[in-house]
Amino acid sequence: MVKSSMKKNAPIGFFDSGVGGLSVYSRFRKLLPSENTIYYGDLKNLPYGNKTQEELIGFARNILDFLKTKGVKAVVIACNTSSALAYDYIKDDYDFPIYPIIQSCAKVIAGMDIERVGVFATEGTVKSDAYNRELTFYNSKVKVKSIACPNWVSIVEGVGSVDADSDIKNHLEEMLSFNPDKIILGCTHYPYLIDRLTKFAPKELFIDPAEIFVDFIKKDLELNDKICQASEEFYVSAEPEKFLENSKIFYDVKFLPQIV
Ligand code: DGL
Repeated sequence: MVKSSMKKNAPIGFFDSGVGGLSVYSRFRKLLPSENTIYYGDLKNLPYGNKTQEELIGFARNILDFLKTKGVKAVVIACNTSSALAYDYIKDDYDFPIYPIIQSCAKVIAGMDIERVGVFATEGTVKSDAYNRELTFYNSKVKVKSIACPNWVSIVEGVGSVDADSDIKNHLEEMLSFNPDKIILGCTHYPYLIDRLTKFAPKELFIDPAEIFVDFIKKDLELNDKICQASEEFYVSAEPEKFLENSKIFYDVKFLPQIV
């Protein structure tokens, strides 16, 4: 997936309609703290869930064009709706790799020992049928039930006035009647609702794809030798060989320090 021209130390761009993508971004920063990163929240166009495909393609292009001006080495679509409806139309138009959340996680989720998979997602993602398509591509035995939760993004972004607990409970009851082995939180905003969701169902039931997603990105960057090389310099006033040898107790210093 990584295109060869990108520079190792260039930043990685992330985008979503709002704060939802930070659920991916925060895991990424923990896993790869030495990467340079840029996050873009498209609040002007939030929510993405009820937008047309043409609109979503336009939003994605505008953001990718902006991130391109920042010299990114890759872009992470930390948004399920944009991955489902825009990714296929923009993926070949840039000379850096673009990682979409749904397509990057499907293989791992489909490979889990599960047959009945629930998906909570935006209206756009549900209508696109992207999770069903991607998961059954890797595992034809999987049965997928997707439910749109149009109010959940507003609950997380702190707009709108729905009764959050009863809205969450209603969707969860409908999903539980399908008897799922796992439920994917198929919108990057939804992991913020985990405390509310787990009032009505066990935590183990839910999959937040963010962890699988950032693992996928890390492996792809490693495979292509594109992990950012944070620079390190070591100086000693004497005995560089001894310092190098003893360093192993605490840290694997890779090269001989300079004497100054
Ligand atoms: N967080 C995004 C997603 O994963 C978009 C939600 C929205 O703005 O409706 O789909």
